[in-house]
Amino acid sequence: MTRTLIEGGLVVTAAEETRADVLIEDEKIVALAASDSAYAAGWTADRTIDATGKYVIPGGIDAHTHMDFPFGGTFSADSFETGTRAAAWGGTTTIVDFAVQTRGQALREGLDLWHAKSDAQCAVDYAFHMILSDVNEGTLKEMDLLVGEGVTSFKLFMAYPGVFYSDDGQILRAMQRSAGNGGLIMMHAENGIAIDVLVEQALAEGRTDPRYHGEVRKTLLEAEATHRAIQLARVAGAPLYIVHVSAEEAVAELTLARDKGLNVFGETCPQYLFLSTDNLAEPDFEGAKYVCSTPLRPREHQEALWRGLRGDDLQVVSTDHCPFCFTGQKELGRGDFSKIPNGMPGVENRMDLLHQAVVDGHISRRRWIDIACAAPARMFGLYPKKGTIAPGADADVVIYDPHAEQTISAATHHMNVDYSAYEGKRITGRVETVLSRGTAVLDQRQFTGRAGHGRYVPRGTCQYLT
Ligand code: URP
Ligand code: ZN
Ligand code: ZN
Ligand code: ZN
Repeated sequence: MTRTLIEGGLVVTAAEETRADVLIEDEKIVALAASDSAYAAGWTADRTIDATGKYVIPGGIDAHTHMDFPFGGTFSADSFETGTRAAAWGGTTTIVDFAVQTRGQALREGLDLWHAKSDAQCAVDYAFHMILSDVNEGTLKEMDLLVGEGVTSFKLFMAYPGVFYSDDGQILRAMQRSAGNGGLIMMHAENGIAIDVLVEQALAEGRTDPRYHGEVRKTLLEAEATHRAIQLARVAGAPLYIVHVSAEEAVAELTLARDKGLNVFGETCPQYLFLSTDNLAEPDFEGAKYVCSTPLRPREHQEALWRGLRGDDLQVVSTDHCPFCFTGQKELGRGDFSKIPNGMPGVENRMDLLHQAVVDGHISRRRWIDIACAAPARMFGLYPKKGTIAPGADADVVIYDPHAEQTISAATHHMNVDYSAYEGKRITGRVETVLSRGTAVLDQRQFTGRAGHGRYVPRGTCQYLT
């Protein structure tokens, strides 16, 4: 047995902050005790980590990533190996990635492919959601089997007609199924049929630059789809999780639903909290770096997102990490914004950006840990194995230096992508050491992990239901 002791830090969970020593045996946290207590003084260990002046926080859970994801005729640039290594650098010890069912495939085929892509590749633990692109009798039955084996959430798209799109009837059927089997429907809420009309009109009028991606994907069409998804979920009696919420009007729909006591949840992402349509308008096609869907919004929307996070109308911040290199990938859309692969890198930056939000006064320290660790764990059936620091939990622990200063840059990041969406942004705070099930994968800013350390984690059902 290997014993690790983390001494003298401020242990921060979603529930409390305490000066405590944390005792780890092999892969599990076994005890916490006040740092100056006689009890803690009696502990011995093979390795002692001095966390004086640092935070001791649960490893981050990024519940929305796309490694090696097919989009627009190309694949996202991070493999499971490079993407989970970057996650470790950024203090994230679990990712939940989206396995893809393409049209005509069984869910099983898509899931098998995702296991093949990730087996023995990951530096940190990982789990899967399933993207449904083809809701039919067969795939509805398969949903039950997947819930039984720990793939307990299913993403549907109201956007991307002809690719991932489901119509309202298919959505209702999938929701009815999940109401019966305990699964959670995750919705990409944008009216894709209407958006495609606006895309066609924009291109016909010569409006081809990246910024028009933001203009045609209107906030009203996000709000309308969010509203429609919520009503369909009510009809089905199913819980609902809206992914990548970006518009104030969509937050308002969530607020209305939650005020009624409905099991409707929302996620936003750092790009919507820190970036805006100003980035999409950057000259020389640089705006393509910021093309993702839902799109970046005018800066005025950010305050509604922060308010939603503070007030629990939004529960989770994940990255929607879906990196495409500027050279050779984003460039596919020169002269036609609709051909720019949708997605942005971020898995490495999330914990730091959200710590900066603590420094900036948007959220409290405990809320930081809630939206980045505890809430995603509860939302996706991983709690309390993941998402907290408590006896019995996996020893996924980050030693975080809240005073270190750093500058985000593609020159120093570890994601396999040739730009940073946050290039030059100054951050107060830095991940120093990361334990994944008791093993250091980052040790005082040295990468000590390996591909294959990370394990597949079957999940339980949503633990957030009222
Ligand atoms: O632009 C994005 N978000 N790309 C990834 C696919 C999705 O819709 O989440
Ligand atoms: Zn989406
Ligand atoms: Zn996504
Ligand atoms: Zn604010």
